[in-house]
Amino acid sequence: MKTIITYGTFDLFHYGHVRLLARLKQLGDKLIVCVSTDEFNAQKGKAAFFSYQQRAEILAACRYVDLVLSETHWGQKVTDIEKYSVDIFAIGDDWRGHFDHLQHLCEVIYLPRTDEISTTEIKNDLAFLPPFPDASND
Ligand code: CTP
Repeated sequence: MKTIITYGTFDLFHYGHVRLLARLKQLGDKLIVCVSTDEFNAQKGKAAFFSYQQRAEILAACRYVDLVLSETHWGQKVTDIEKYSVDIFAIGDDWRGHFDHLQHLCEVIYLPRTDEISTTEIKNDLAFLPPFPDASND
């Protein structure tokens, strides 16, 4: 039984997230996704549109995900890997090199991101969309 763990905010869940989770699940048997809490995001200077509870609920409904946990601080990865007997820590390659220090605990893999999609891009694109025409005027 091979356990994979990953970490992220996963706000406005999109197909880049789906494709990453599908590839992560293919690496083994059990996929654990640790979702940044709103408080942890605030520490990182990030604000999610969906709350932690909403993001965790969406991830738990994804067929590739076996277990959803909260991530509350940077140092948690070491204890999670030990506690859940993790074989592979994997994350998108925008984080390449950042987690090499975990290599003494488990395998560390950086997967290529899906091109041309991100939560930031969705937020930016929506901000510039013209408003929908008012149907009540038809
Ligand atoms: N990810 C991916 N492909 C994308 C977007 C994200 O593989 N196009 C991966 C990231 O590399 C990370 C995980 O999905 O491992 C969660 O990333 P997250 O930062 O929550 O998503 P982003 O869309 O990158 O959000 P943001 O724009 O806020 O950074």
